[in-house]
Amino acid sequence: MDLHKKWWKEAVVYQIYPRSFYDSNGDGIGDLPGIIEKLDYLQELGVDVIWLNPIYKSPNADNGYDISDYYDIMDEFGTMEDFDRLLNEAHKRGIKIVMDLVVNHTSDEHKWFLESKKSKDSPYRNFYFWRPGKNGKLPNNWTSFFGGPAWEYDPQTGEYYLHLFATKQPDLNWDNPQVRQEVYKMMKWWLDKGIDGFRMDVINLISKVEGLPDDREGEKKGGLVGFKYYANGPRVHEYLQEMNREVLSKYDIMTVGETPFVTPEIAKLYVEYDRNELNMIFHFEHMDMDCSGSKWNVKPWKLTDLKKIMYKWYLALKDKGWNSLYLNNHDQPRMVSRFGNDKEYRVESAKLLATLLHTWQGTPFIYQGEEIGMTNCKFESIDEFRDIETLNFYREMKEKGMSDDSILEILNKRSRDHARTPMQWNDSENAGFTTGKPWIKVNPNYKEINVKKALADKGSIFYYYKKLIQLRKTHPAVVYGDVQMLYENDEKIFAYTRSYGNEKLLVVMNFSEEEVEFCAPKEIFLNKPELLISNYEVEDDIQQKIVLKPYESRVYKI
Ligand code: GLC
Ligand code: CA
Repeated sequence: MDLHKKWWKEAVVYQIYPRSFYDSNGDGIGDLPGIIEKLDYLQELGVDVIWLNPIYKSPNADNGYDISDYYDIMDEFGTMEDFDRLLNEAHKRGIKIVMDLVVNHTSDEHKWFLESKKSKDSPYRNFYFWRPGKNGKLPNNWTSFFGGPAWEYDPQTGEYYLHLFATKQPDLNWDNPQVRQEVYKMMKWWLDKGIDGFRMDVINLISKVEGLPDDREGEKKGGLVGFKYYANGPRVHEYLQEMNREVLSKYDIMTVGETPFVTPEIAKLYVEYDRNELNMIFHFEHMDMDCSGSKWNVKPWKLTDLKKIMYKWYLALKDKGWNSLYLNNHDQPRMVSRFGNDKEYRVESAKLLATLLHTWQGTPFIYQGEEIGMTNCKFESIDEFRDIETLNFYREMKEKGMSDDSILEILNKRSRDHARTPMQWNDSENAGFTTGKPWIKVNPNYKEINVKKALADKGSIFYYYKKLIQLRKTHPAVVYGDVQMLYENDEKIFAYTRSYGNEKLLVVMNFSEEEVEFCAPKEIFLNKPELLISNYEVEDDIQQKIVLKPYESRVYKI
C-alpha cells in the first residue's frame, strides 16, 4: 500500500483558463503576468498544483487548443520570460505547474502543416492524414466533434486532410515515428525547463485504425460518426508506453490524460501501475449522466447514477491505479448550476459538492471560480458567445430550422462559455478582471459572487475549500482511505466511510432541497465521532439519527 504513496495523489490541482483568469495590461485578455499576480491568492487557498490550459503560440481558433508553435507563448498571454517567471514564482510558493499537452492535432498554421500542404511529396506530408476524395466524395464519412465532416479539401494538392476537431486543427499522424519523436523532443524541452507534468488533451484519440474505414453503423445512429475507429485505437498503448519509456519515466511528474469514450475496463490499460503509461485519466461517465445521445440533449440526472459511477471507478482502479476527480472544467457547465442549486442554496450546495470532490478517493481538480461558487451565466443572445463549438452548433441548428430561442435555451444549459466567463475578483467594473473590454461577457452576478467578498467572510465557500484541502494534509484517510458506501440506493443521501490504518472517517451529504434523516451505523454512534467539517452550524453530538438540512454535508472522524 505504502509503495503506492505519491505526491500527485496527495495534491489538489487548480485549473487555470488563462484567457479568463486575470488581465494585467488592460487588453481584455487574461495573461501570464496576471497569473503571477494571483499566485498569493492560490497559495492562500492551499492548492499544490496549477494546471494551465494551453498557453502556446496559437491563432486561437479553439482558444489555444490549436497550436502553431509548441516552443513559444501565445502573444496575448506574454513572453517566454513571463513563463519562466511564473514557473519560478509558483515553485517559490511550493506550487507545481502542469501544462496542457495538445498533440492529437496542431494548428493549420503550424510550420509542419504549412510544409505538408505544399506538395504530395513534402517531407512533412506524412505528419498528417492527407487522402484523395473517394468517387468525388470525402475520403470517409467521419464527422467532427465541432460539427460537419472531419475532412477539409485543400485545392493546392487536390486532397483532403483529417481534422477530428475544427478545420483549423489538422490531426497529427502518430503512426509516423518522426511525429512521435518531435513530440517527445518538445515534451523533454518543457520538462527540462522544470514543469511538473502534463494534462494530455484527447490523448486516447491519437491512434487511428489503418485505412480510416467508413463508419456505417455510426452514420445510421447519428451523432458523432467514426469514433470507434480512433477512440482507444489499435496502437495507442504502444505509443503511450513508448512516450513513458522515452520521456515520462525520466522525471518525477504528474500525468493525466483526457480520455473520452472510456469505461473503467479500458481505463485500467492507461493507468494501472505496471503498464507504465499515465498516472490518471479524466473519464466522462459522470459528465454524460445528464444527457442522451449528445451533450446538447439534456435530461435530468440521478444521484444514484452518480454514486454508481463513482463507486464503480473506485473499485475498478483500487490498489492498481488512481482516479482523478472533477465536477467541471473549461469544457463543462459550472458544477453548482448543474449538480447543485445556484439559487437559494448556492453556498450550501457548492460546499457539498466540494466535500464530495475532496473526500472521495482520487486527486481533486478544482476549476477556477469553483472555490467562490461561480455559476453558469445567462447569455441573452448568440453574439455573446465566443466558443467555436457553440457557434458551430448554433449555425447547424439554424440551418435545420430551429428558432433562436430554442437554441439559446440549450446553450444556456450546455455551452462551454459558462466556464469561460472571467474570474470574478471583486465588485468593481468587469469584476476586476480587466480595466479594458473583456474578450467575453462577465457574469452579471459578480457583485454578489467575487473573491474579495469571499476573502472577507470566514463562512465563505473559499474558506470551506481551504479547510477541505487542509484536511487532506492532516488526515491520510482522506487521500488513501478505502471507501465503503452507505445508503447506496438512496436518491438524496450520499454517504460513505474512508478507512486507512486505524483512522476512519464518515462523510454524509444531503443532495436534496429537503431535510432528510440519516441513521448512522451503530459502531459510529457508539464511538463519539468528532466533527471535522460541515457546511451548517452543527451543535449536537452525532446521534444515531441525524436530520440533514438541504444540501448539508458533514465529515466526521470516528
Ligand atoms: C479537449 C479540450 C477542449 C478542446 C478539444 C480539442 O477536449 O479540453 O477544450 O476543444 O480537446 O483540442
Ligand atoms: Ca492581457
